[in-house]
Amino acid sequence: MTAAPSPRCDRIAELTTDQLRARLPEALQIYVTAMGYPPTTAQQRAPMWSAHMLRAGWRCIGAFSEQDELIGIGYGYLGAPGQWWHEQVRRGLLSSGAEIGDWLDDYFELTELHVHPAGQGAGVGEEILRHLLTGAPGSKVLLSTPEGPTRAWRLYRRVGFTDVLRNYRFTGDPRPFAVLGRPLPLEPR
Ligand SMILES: CC(C)(COP(=O)(O)OP(=O)(O)OC[C@H]1O[C@@H](n2cnc3c(N)ncnc32)[C@H](O)[C@@H]1OP(=O)(O)O)[C@@H](O)C(=O)NCCC(=O)NCCS
Repeated sequence: MTAAPSPRCDRIAELTTDQLRARLPEALQIYVTAMGYPPTTAQQRAPMWSAHMLRAGWRCIGAFSEQDELIGIGYGYLGAPGQWWHEQVRRGLLSSGAEIGDWLDDYFELTELHVHPAGQGAGVGEEILRHLLTGAPGSKVLLSTPEGPTRAWRLYRRVGFTDVLRNYRFTGDPRPFAVLGRPLPLEPR
């Protein structure tokens, strides 16, 4: 049996594609635990995370315990036409009658951000987010998150994200989502 990761964050570091590949099972374990998904979801998501690593502008940040266990992970890349998420958001904006403006031009898609439940509520998610966005390509950042008063919402609002699209239903997921965005770069704290 694997011991639960220590909740204390010792360091935040950028991960290369090789480094994430080597720790992919660990990273996916954090993802399914943080999201409350069944363990089988980890295996299903592995090919998608691997494909994302090859996208332009891919950037990944990890949070590590003193024992060098991964306790949090965040990554994203440059969004582009033809990508599933890009086309879904474009469809949502068009059907809502909202102004697309230039939101879908030159943006960094914040794809995943997760902290192991044992390490949540201590600022680790914000540290990962700030490191990820500092030096991220693109003139803006976009993300989607389930609607509801969650810790993720408080974090994104605190970091200056505003509404792009609300109560949107992505194909294949019955939950309503918000798409949030903000210009880059981030202001220093
Ligand atoms: C969303 C998520 C990544 C945020 O990470 P986190 O480490 O839990 O949260 P934050 O970095 O925002 O921590 C801030 C909280 O820690 C507290 N905190 C304690 N010490 C802190 C410090 N030194 N600096 C900042 N915040 C600190 C804050 O008061 C705040 O509490 P609150 O959220 O109850 O108001 C994480 O909760 C998570 O993985 N959730 C489940 C998965 C998920 O929803 N992911 C996002 C999908 S879009």
